[in-house]
Amino acid sequence: MTKLIKTWSSCPEDEDSMTKEHAWIWQAMIGAVPIGLKDRVLDIGCNQGGFLRMLHDTVSFAEGVGVDLATQRVALAEAHKGDRKLRYLATDQLSDAGTGFDVAFSHEVIYLIGDLADHARQVFEILRPGGAYYAVTCCHRDNPLWATWRPGIEVVSNVPVPDHSVGDIATAFRDAGFDVAINRFLADTFIPTAPPSEYFPSDLERLDVYTNWKLMFRMTRPA
Ligand SMILES: C[S@@+](CC[C@H](N)C(=O)[O-])C[C@H]1O[C@@H](n2cnc3c(N)ncnc32)[C@H](O)[C@@H]1O
Repeated sequence: MTKLIKTWSSCPEDEDSMTKEHAWIWQAMIGAVPIGLKDRVLDIGCNQGGFLRMLHDTVSFAEGVGVDLATQRVALAEAHKGDRKLRYLATDQLSDAGTGFDVAFSHEVIYLIGDLADHARQVFEILRPGGAYYAVTCCHRDNPLWATWRPGIEVVSNVPVPDHSVGDIATAFRDAGFDVAINRFLADTFIPTAPPSEYFPSDLERLDVYTNWKLMFRMTRPA
């Protein structure tokens, strides 16, 4: 069991800027994953709900639910959903969102999950047989910049920040019964440039991380 929190970051303005900074990546995720009209979709670690709003405004699907540990962020997601048929819940138990989902997503959340075996068990329970979980992250030990990022993230994160490798994530899901595949889903995408930042000292490092280390894991529950 993980405790609920008010906000994920102790600098809430960081969370406000995530929506803007992540939008182009969410777009690429939506382009990479087939979604059907009858699909029920779960967004794990939805924060302020921006990914599901974008998904809703881009493709048609039957139901969208977002879950997060951060109660104030979930309240914002609910407040911003307008008349979209989306639901957002504050919980650490995925089954509170329901079961039988066709597709689950997470973007930059799996690296914050301490107990990957429990996460994999929970995802198995909420997906229908044949359903798939697409988890995207570049926050893992195999990314050469992770060792410099992690201490800074630990300072602001209101949950512990584990140190998972790509192999740790894949193994946990294989052990739970999933078929696991991995994609460098931004490899053919134009990567936006930006001035040097605490995360990316140069555009070349930005390009390297996004094209080589921003990974999409596809965990399929066998049919
Ligand atoms: C770095 S933010 C990413 C938010 C969002 N997915 C995005 O793309 O902007 C990580 C989010 O995961 C949430 N989170 C962390 N551990 C979680 C867990 N066990 N269950 C649900 N949400 C979790 C945090 O509260 C936070 O909102």
